[in-house]
Amino acid sequence: LFAGTADFFYAADKLEILPPMRGHEIAFAGRSNVGKSSLINALTGRNALARTSHTPGRTQQLNFFDVGGGKLVLVDMPGYGYAAVEKAKVAAWTELIHSYLRGRANLARVYVLIDSRHGIKPNDAEVLDGLDKAAVSYQIVLTKSDALKKHEIQARLDATAAAIARRPAAYPEIILTSSRTDDGVTDLRASIARLLAE
Ligand code: GTP
Ligand code: MG
Repeated sequence: LFAGTADFFYAADKLEILPPMRGHEIAFAGRSNVGKSSLINALTGRNALARTSHTPGRTQQLNFFDVGGGKLVLVDMPGYGYAAVEKAKVAAWTELIHSYLRGRANLARVYVLIDSRHGIKPNDAEVLDGLDKAAVSYQIVLTKSDALKKHEIQARLDATAAAIARRPAAYPEIILTSSRTDDGVTDLRASIARLLAE
């Protein structure tokens, strides 16, 4: 699946102009700067497919990427929880994110990225609440594992597993990744392949 081509094909900043649904869609959600765009690049093996930045708030639209010629669409979402953006803009983003997540029939799963250094923050928990309520299947992906020591990683995995244990729409397995070292990227690809085979 990931051996072939991956191409950007659509950017939406309004729900009314989402691309037509084709194949399975998988969305990458998470706080600003958590590493969504970087992980999409690592997954597809394309350095600059999704635009990344040191400055939070880089991705401001829903960006759609085709993988494997119509088999799979990866959606890079704008991050949430970035304080330095105007209130009106935050409201517009939140609405776009939530409506997309609730209303997209071909959305197979949302990968919710959590910075492994920080764990699940209150605004992450709010997003998870929304996904649970809407019964949108999601899975937690811990990012930036390269920034932690081994024992810190285990503690973060345990705490995260405990935090999602009673969440109805959460997939129990947590995937640990680093886009910098490519750790866990193979696991994430396998997870996606299994999902598409279901
Ligand atoms: P927004 O689009 O603003 O929501 O951010 P994003 O979640 O798409 O994050 P992005 O991929 O742009 O990465 C944000 C910053 O984190 C960049 O400076 C990346 O270099 C850094 N980063 C991403 N992945 C990793 C990782 O695995 N390890 C480390 N150490 N840094 C990473
Ligand atoms: Mg981004």
